[in-house]
Amino acid sequence: MRRVTLTQFLIEQQRAGRISADLRLLIEVVARAVKAISVNVSKGALAGVLGEAGTDNVQGEAQKKLDVIANEILLQANEWGGHLAAMASEEVEEVHQIPFDYPKGGYLLLFDPLDGSSNIDVNISVGTIFSVLRSPAEDNEPTEQNFLQPGREQVAAGYALYGPSTMLVLTVGKGVHGFTLDREMGSFVYTHPYMTVPVDTGEFAINASNARFWEPPVQRYVSELQQGKEGPRGRDFNMRWVASMVADVHRILTRGGIFMYPMDEKCRAKGGKLRLMYEANPMAMIIEQAGGAASTGRERILDVQPEKLHQRVPVILGSLNEVERVAAYHREE
Ligand code: AHG
Ligand code: MN
Ligand code: MN
Ligand code: MN
Repeated sequence: MRRVTLTQFLIEQQRAGRISADLRLLIEVVARAVKAISVNVSKGALAGVLGEAGTDNVQGEAQKKLDVIANEILLQANEWGGHLAAMASEEVEEVHQIPFDYPKGGYLLLFDPLDGSSNIDVNISVGTIFSVLRSPAEDNEPTEQNFLQPGREQVAAGYALYGPSTMLVLTVGKGVHGFTLDREMGSFVYTHPYMTVPVDTGEFAINASNARFWEPPVQRYVSELQQGKEGPRGRDFNMRWVASMVADVHRILTRGGIFMYPMDEKCRAKGGKLRLMYEANPMAMIIEQAGGAASTGRERILDVQPEKLHQRVPVILGSLNEVERVAAYHREE
């Protein structure tokens, strides 16, 4: 079978009028950066990239060396790429402007350069998440305000999963498509066309150590799952929690499931745990494009009007019928 690469896929999307040349080239730049991150991640202890960087980020997290390395790779690759008006990163407090003498384009790129970084030192899969918005700023420098667009405005979203194989999963609004990195050729091969989330599932993902802090609708929902066959659901359920959102979401995209990082008393003051602009929104677009649903519990994630660049939201996403059930329990509250 002729192997289609990401480059050919993107050219076909452009020919079909689904994406602009600039967006195609932007995604190619991100894919090249992701390959460089994959090389660093897979070297592990051999390249001295493990462990703490000794610095904290705006989230108040201790940065891993690879958080900083992945962030630098994405910033540098996209500065000279020429398709961006500006960038935003989990690891950078302010909007990152394109240097004045570099070519600029009409898109805003937001990213979580290394997702699940607490797993780096124990050699468990990590990822990169990215989101693309149109820049309303015309020629002047985009402000934080220009980034604060609801997730439904995204023109593209994707993630890289640095697992047993390195995969790139992408949507430009016409379904979800998966690519596997062929390290010998250095190209992403189109291996997973039109990925879809089964509407029902027997598997849930949540950090159960927070159970005592959850709100009643989530406590009710999870308790029913844990009661299995003898409970109201009348069937057994399985649980998985990788603590890398990309790995949990990819499993759900591949075989179904529901992922929850709901509001809890511990993270309520911050608005939730996961970041809206570069974790919840891109994953919500991907999951909806794959026939799933993504909710805060009280509203569709893609409809949330952002107020701050690094704001956090509760996240409940995955198999449509399960997300609907959790949302119904919130309405009955
Ligand atoms: P990041 O490593 O980019 O800061 O994100 C980590 C997030 C997400 O990937 C994961 O689902 C969640 O944190 C895990 O949280 P707990 O450690 O509380 O389980
Ligand atoms: Mn982090
Ligand atoms: Mn993350
Ligand atoms: Mn991160």
